[in-house]
Amino acid sequence: MIITIDGPAGSGKSTAARKLAARLGVPYLDTGAMYRVVTLAALRRRVDLHDDAGLAEIARGDDWDLDPGPTHIRATLHGDDVTEEIRSMYVADHTRFIAASPSVRAVLVARQREIGARLGSMVTEGRDQGSVAFPNADVKFYLDAAIDKRAERRFHELLAEGEEVSMADVLRNLAERDESDSRRAVAPLRRPDGAIDVDTTQLSIHEVVDRMAAEVERVALLPSGASTEARES
Ligand code: DC
Repeated sequence: MIITIDGPAGSGKSTAARKLAARLGVPYLDTGAMYRVVTLAALRRRVDLHDDAGLAEIARGDDWDLDPGPTHIRATLHGDDVTEEIRSMYVADHTRFIAASPSVRAVLVARQREIGARLGSMVTEGRDQGSVAFPNADVKFYLDAAIDKRAERRFHELLAEGEEVSMADVLRNLAERDESDSRRAVAPLRRPDGAIDVDTTQLSIHEVVDRMAAEVERVALLPSGASTEARES
């Protein structure tokens, strides 16, 4: 069973994906981590961030890897663990260039589909999982929340990771990413057809995961030939 979760930065999708996957006993894939690790590799190699071919070469390379585990993902670059480094504001400030590269997106979507085929069942989260990577997913979710709430969550996460950031910086970074995620020419962030909307502004993470797990259970109980309308109703 493939379950997709899409939504803007700070909507709570990473935590929800991780917890939902743990509850269902399947791996989860954080596709944002793929864009982040390619960003870090490009920054380290000083590749021009507008050079589509140069960026695609990095995305295709075998010097980075992402290990989708049951409750965590581990990112490596040249064998070094960069799981924490890819979460820094420095990397976040540059991901939009990598996310806007059509060739990088093609390489990463192909890799996501390979992982999905290999694992059989997974929860995968990002911006284009239900719309582009897995349009035939069994269950699709679209998470969103008010920007102030999303910024507050990111701010607390970054503080917990020891980053010295201001709330104003986090808000600016989120607003920039919203803008570039929804306006880019390739695979802009949009609600996938047939997605179940979850507004997380007023919900705790437990409430979000409970709601999602109930939907997954509902779909799993439907006969496999059930019509799309029945699945979406
Ligand atoms: O979810 P995140 O903040 O870790 O995402 C990092 C960047 O990658 C962000 O700029 C959005 C982009 N992204 C994307 O374009 N498509 C995805 N499937 C996942 C992330």
